[in-house]
Amino acid sequence: MSFNPFKEKGIPIENQVTNWSNLNSKPFNKNEVHPYTRCRGILMNGIEVEAAIFLHQFARHTNDPDVKKDLALTRRVEQQQQKAINWLIPGDQSVLETTIGYEQVAVDLTAWMCQNEPDPYVKQVFDFGLLEDFDHLYRYANLLEMKQGIKAEKLVGKYTEIMPGRPTAEEHRHPYDDVRKPGDKKKMSPQTLMNVLTLVAGEQQTMNFYMNVGNTLEDMIGRGLYLEIGMVEEQHVTQYESLLDPKASWFEMLVMHEYNECYLYHSFMEQEVDPAAKQLWQTCLGMELTHFKMACDLMKKYEKMDAQEMLPAAFPKPIVFQSNVDYVRQVLANQVELTAQGTDFVPKTKLAKDSKYPQYQKTVNTGGAPSDQVIMEHVKKQGKDYRYLLKGEHPVERLREAA
Ligand SMILES: [Fe+2]
Ligand SMILES: [Fe+2]
Ligand SMILES: [Fe+2]
Ligand SMILES: [Fe+2]
Repeated sequence: MSFNPFKEKGIPIENQVTNWSNLNSKPFNKNEVHPYTRCRGILMNGIEVEAAIFLHQFARHTNDPDVKKDLALTRRVEQQQQKAINWLIPGDQSVLETTIGYEQVAVDLTAWMCQNEPDPYVKQVFDFGLLEDFDHLYRYANLLEMKQGIKAEKLVGKYTEIMPGRPTAEEHRHPYDDVRKPGDKKKMSPQTLMNVLTLVAGEQQTMNFYMNVGNTLEDMIGRGLYLEIGMVEEQHVTQYESLLDPKASWFEMLVMHEYNECYLYHSFMEQEVDPAAKQLWQTCLGMELTHFKMACDLMKKYEKMDAQEMLPAAFPKPIVFQSNVDYVRQVLANQVELTAQGTDFVPKTKLAKDSKYPQYQKTVNTGGAPSDQVIMEHVKKQGKDYRYLLKGEHPVERLREAA
């Protein structure tokens, strides 16, 4: 019997708020945790942060006290879930080590979506973003080895390669060139909806993380790297959020958010190898099923809409954290020279005469980019840059040698 989120019984809402000791999760051992358990935790933290912030925004856009009360109730639980999940990270995992996890999430999550995305335009957007986060992983890995003597391969396992992607300094575009074509909720497949909602939340949390922790580094190159990449994450949030349908109402967005949470916990519960994390995903799924039902009831009451006409009874294909080495290499070989022009992607050599890209590049990169400086510094100190290659030399000739 397949899992039907419209029919499954969740944990009653009045039983969902819990005590401090239950929330204070026992952190994992950073040397033993499976890289993809770390990734799932990072992603679900991002999903819960989005849930809380979205519910706050909704509350600020309604004057109905009953709706506000229901939003406050589920929001309190989303906040508790966020704490329980993010507190899995141990105190001895440094900001930089956690950052490697964030970029591994971006790489392997996006790469999975690229290969499981039915809409060709959305897939193209994912491919484009993939190569940028892939490069961030390489830049941070070099900083990590230089500052803490830790090789990032210890964190990513044998799953994800570390080498240049689209060089970060080349990723800075005029804001207009990061806005993509909007989706249409009537035509968008459930898989596309899940992919985009998930990626928006993940990228948004990466953006939040860098804006908050980037200034905890002591050296100027590290501080510079976080602020530079933090600005690219702003571009990524701009890009992915613009794929959503702006015509969806607040209630529809609420239903979609809760369905997405059910879908993700269900996906991760099935594939989790860590028993404590698996238990947490399962408990959270039980909570989300109730949130989803409450959201559907609210939408029905206030907008006379039936969620069953919006979303399928069987979840789309589950998102899986898995190695994507061959896929990433293929996209690198074919798309590393692309940039964006308006809502489309073009090779840098084919930009229109009035393109905003060169001027924006000049403005921000004058005086040098920290993402280049970190590599130069590494080469100066250790004779070469840090890379972790699983399948031979870099597929792009110009990226084989450190600049
Ligand atoms: Fe949640
Ligand atoms: Fe990134
Ligand atoms: Fe990103
Ligand atoms: Fe929820």
